[in-house]
Amino acid sequence: MGYKVAIVGATGNVGREILSILEERGFPADEVVALASRRSQGTEVSFGDKTLKVKALDQYDFSDTDICLMSAGGSISKEWAPKIGAQGCVVIDNSSAWRYDAQVPLIVPEVNADAITGFSKLNIIANPNCSTAQLVVALKPLHDVATIKRVVVSTYQSVSGAGKEAMDELFTQTRAVFVNDPIEATKFTKRIAFNLIPHIDVFMEDGYTKEEWKVMAETKKILDPKIKLTCTAVRVPVFVSHSESVNIEFEKPISADEARDILREAPGCLVIDNPEEDQYITPYEATGEDATFISRIREDATVENGLNLWVVSDNLRKGAALNAVQIAEVLVNRKLIQPKKKAA
Ligand SMILES: NC(=O)c1ccc[n+]([C@@H]2O[C@H](COP(=O)([O-])OP(=O)(O)OC[C@H]3O[C@@H](n4cnc5c(N)ncnc54)[C@H](OP(=O)(O)O)[C@@H]3O)[C@@H](O)[C@H]2O)c1
Repeated sequence: MGYKVAIVGATGNVGREILSILEERGFPADEVVALASRRSQGTEVSFGDKTLKVKALDQYDFSDTDICLMSAGGSISKEWAPKIGAQGCVVIDNSSAWRYDAQVPLIVPEVNADAITGFSKLNIIANPNCSTAQLVVALKPLHDVATIKRVVVSTYQSVSGAGKEAMDELFTQTRAVFVNDPIEATKFTKRIAFNLIPHIDVFMEDGYTKEEWKVMAETKKILDPKIKLTCTAVRVPVFVSHSESVNIEFEKPISADEARDILREAPGCLVIDNPEEDQYITPYEATGEDATFISRIREDATVENGLNLWVVSDNLRKGAALNAVQIAEVLVNRKLIQPKKKAA
């Protein structure tokens, strides 16, 4: 007997990716239910070679559902996750609504799977921000060996991180440039076509954006609160996959060769690093893949025990959908939940 799984936000970028990853990885689900807003009620989404009719979240009863993978934005999660959790259905939430709540585990399975045990307080588990997920997958194996003191990260984030309407805006603006149409910016604060925008989420009092704050706070919660980290987050005109330039200062010496060997063996990491033959990863090449790719591993001679890395991953997969499904797999593989139908 398998699990009953509901996907909230099934018509969105992340929701559709969750459906394909559940199918690809053979998740032990007996039944998968697609949920979205009333606007999408009755429309269809693909699940393997089947199609699922979308139901409305606010008309769905979660009492016989085991796991809810939620990606419909922060306000929906704030309102619905506690109600769904109270019905005995474990919510794995992709928004930022619950990530910083001390009662909610924030999980990247390659990094801190053991922290999942606290989930039963609210029946909510949080998935990190897309930029944090790939960053901590690359940092963890190096931190275990040489202890990270400080990280400086600059992100180059694709438009899919802002949802499907943001992808349409890049497409429409790019077309408008070629046919000389007026350029309209609605999802982004400035034109994104043939441009970069150093502004993701809102500005905070200290001058950082909320996106930058999230990467700093989440890395501490997932990996180690002692790590000092500063971040600049930039939106770039790329459809899918986020890239990061990462400068790391360690307590202990670590050479570029040692880091390469460590990362080659590390879970979730794939090293592509042979610059003489132009072997390094780009976001286009990382799209549709599960790995966190690491290239351009170099020593930084300007600090003691310093390294530079280039880290790229598909933000819709490791940055959201894949990580959420991996969390569900931890719940199942560690027997932390049982299918309600079997228990009945
Ligand atoms: N994209 C990323 O890289 C990424 C990474 C990590 C986390 N996330 C988070 O994941 C969430 C979704 O992102 P996305 O990129 O998939 O956005 P998206 O493409 O805009 O999709 C949003 C989804 O939410 C649904 N929704 C909106 N209002 C709803 C309501 N009132 N009730 C039920 N469902 C509702 C939409 O359904 P309709 O089609 O019916 O409107 C749609 O399925 C966000 O919280 C985002 O921050 C995204």
